[in-house]
Amino acid sequence: MRIIIAKDYDELSKKTANLLASQITLKPNSVLGLATGSTPVGAYNDLVRIYKEGDINFTEVVTFNLDEYYGLDKENPQSYYYFMMENLFKHVNINKHNIHIPNGRAKDIELECIEYENKIKQAGGIDLQLLGIGRNGHIGFNEPDVKFLDEDTIEANSRFFTALDEVPRKAISMGIKTIMHSRKIILLASGEEKAETINSMINGKITPELPASVLQLHPDVVVLLDEKAACKL
Ligand code: GLP
Repeated sequence: MRIIIAKDYDELSKKTANLLASQITLKPNSVLGLATGSTPVGAYNDLVRIYKEGDINFTEVVTFNLDEYYGLDKENPQSYYYFMMENLFKHVNINKHNIHIPNGRAKDIELECIEYENKIKQAGGIDLQLLGIGRNGHIGFNEPDVKFLDEDTIEANSRFFTALDEVPRKAISMGIKTIMHSRKIILLASGEEKAETINSMINGKITPELPASVLQLHPDVVVLLDEKAACKL
């Protein structure tokens, strides 16, 4: 793992956007794995700025998002589909046929997951996967040892909903194996509330209780932290 420590959230976001922009420059038809959550918002804003300055072109870029809440419509402002449109896709010249986000309203979830995996394979696999990390060490929605969303995740994500019981209890997520097959991974973390988890992820044992710890086995991971998230290292 390569660890890069940025001064603060703004610097973390700029560095991330620059890495994504370089990936698109080096390979215009890159397959990007994208993440939601509050952490990558700044990076997406900066990526849009780089695009508007004319330095990158999304026409051939293909994207696969990590996850989606189960049961939410695309139009729901809390859906990850809506998040991606608002924060990135509607601001750049990406071809809408190249955008992939799990369908939270799929009737047959098993089939949705199989088809999603197949589309990733058909696209040639993910060149660069962007990840955030949950307070409990989850990546995507791969929770420690459980199939339903963890209580801590529901509590953490409730800040985007008006009430705790509005947070869906289930989600569709790219699995750990698919994430591990990405050629490159960039994991972002900002703020002190992630510091303990980041330290365990980097220096602790590899365990399903902290799903992100499996990244220790990946050959090309960049962990981009701000100083607060790095304070326990
Ligand atoms: C959600 C997402 C994760 C994300 C995590 C952390 O649970 N499914 O992909 O990494 O939140 O979010 P934040 O960046 O808001 O702390």
